[in-house]
Amino acid sequence: MGRDFVYVILGGGVAAGYAALEFVRRGVGRGELCIISEESVPPYERPALSKGYLLPEAPARLPTFYTCVGANDEQLPPIWYKEHGIDLVLGTRVKSANVQLKQLTTTTGETITYKILIIATGARALKLENFGISESDAENVCYLWNLTDANRLVGLMQEYRGGNAVVIGGGYIGMECAAALATNRMKVAMVFPDAYCMSRLFTPKIADFYESYYKSKGVIFFKRNALASFDNDLKGKVKAVILKDGTHLPADLVVVGIGIRPNTNLFEDQLQLEKGGIKVNGQMQSSDPSVYAVGDVAAFPVKQFGNEIRRLEHVDAARKTAKHAVAAIMARDAGDLDYLPFIYSRVFTLSWQFYGDNVGRVVHYGDFSSGNFGAYWIDKGVVVGAFLEGGNKGDNEAIAKVVRLKATVNDIAELQRAGLEFALCK
Ligand code: FDA
Repeated sequence: MGRDFVYVILGGGVAAGYAALEFVRRGVGRGELCIISEESVPPYERPALSKGYLLPEAPARLPTFYTCVGANDEQLPPIWYKEHGIDLVLGTRVKSANVQLKQLTTTTGETITYKILIIATGARALKLENFGISESDAENVCYLWNLTDANRLVGLMQEYRGGNAVVIGGGYIGMECAAALATNRMKVAMVFPDAYCMSRLFTPKIADFYESYYKSKGVIFFKRNALASFDNDLKGKVKAVILKDGTHLPADLVVVGIGIRPNTNLFEDQLQLEKGGIKVNGQMQSSDPSVYAVGDVAAFPVKQFGNEIRRLEHVDAARKTAKHAVAAIMARDAGDLDYLPFIYSRVFTLSWQFYGDNVGRVVHYGDFSSGNFGAYWIDKGVVVGAFLEGGNKGDNEAIAKVVRLKATVNDIAELQRAGLEFALCK
């Protein structure tokens, strides 16, 4: 049993949706493109799962967040794929790939061959088992990566409303989940090993603002600490989380967000890897000319950082690398991707954006007590990164622009005084 396509996208997440739209805009023929996805629904905007999807009032539900609404573009419901002659093979896992034969084999035994493959397999959530802790399959322990996880979390939040929730991990998934749990009137404790939240990006001063805000919403922090084990009832349900320092935290619900690992496994001995991802060039083409990689699974040269190879786990990178790969495949004159790294988050009524790289000297500005603040990162006399809380569209475009331009900074004190004005005047 086998089928043959010109183009196959392996994976049906954010990058797949944006790639599909670009294929159609560039005139892909009917029956030429196939998308294979383990998920049972077409590509959707994954970040919605930890934001609108978890709201207690008027939560976001499909079809409202099918790609590509996250970039204010066309929404692609299931019928769209049909109308454009795209084979959407859902609920199907690819279990092996043979790059030489240009062939994928699914768990149902079907073989699908391609002329060009785009790998868009994204990443998976790390499990507690990866850190030697068992029982993360207990009925009240949740991860959050796909719609099934999100539905489970919603069900548990409804069941235990007013109860105790423990969030393990202080990255953006942990922070967004903690905010959602508090909004759902749960008593929330956050546990993470670092000295402050979002330590890969935030400075202590920025983290302090968000932690204070969370505390004002009732969230309690257990920092420089870690989960040691669970205390379970006779049915195997977790009833308390035991921390490394011996603290017992009562738990009706545990949410784990401790990082992700890119899904490279089908290709590890067939394609070149770097930074844990599939290494591609500026056209998103891998070490095999018929294979491209995009999104979380791709490690690509970032021009803005002198073509240093980076793997970015952000939705904007997934959208743009996907579109660029299709441009490179279909037009063959796309040039190399010139990408400005960007990440954002929204929690409670707060919302921040960050562009560029967080290296060099940090200059904070604004009023941290009222939530009107930002920061620039300066390296070798130029702006390499910029963070802003609560900016409007124009403000965010301005901070993106100073990073893109690598604006020169002559006087740090003046930059601190000017704050956002520095970016708005450029
Ligand atoms: P993505 O994970 O979206 O899709 C991968 C797809 O491949 C999935 O459909 C998967 O099932 C499929 N797949 C994998 N292996 C397969 C196989 N062998 N066979 C078949 N199918 C297979 N980013 C950001 O910048 N700001 C934010 O606020 C957030 N918020 C956020 C919240 C939550 C809850 C999550 C989980 C993630 C975010 N992100 C984010 C990250 C962002 O969503 C992420 O960077 C993109 O989804 C990456 O898109 P990809 O298409 O690369 O992978």
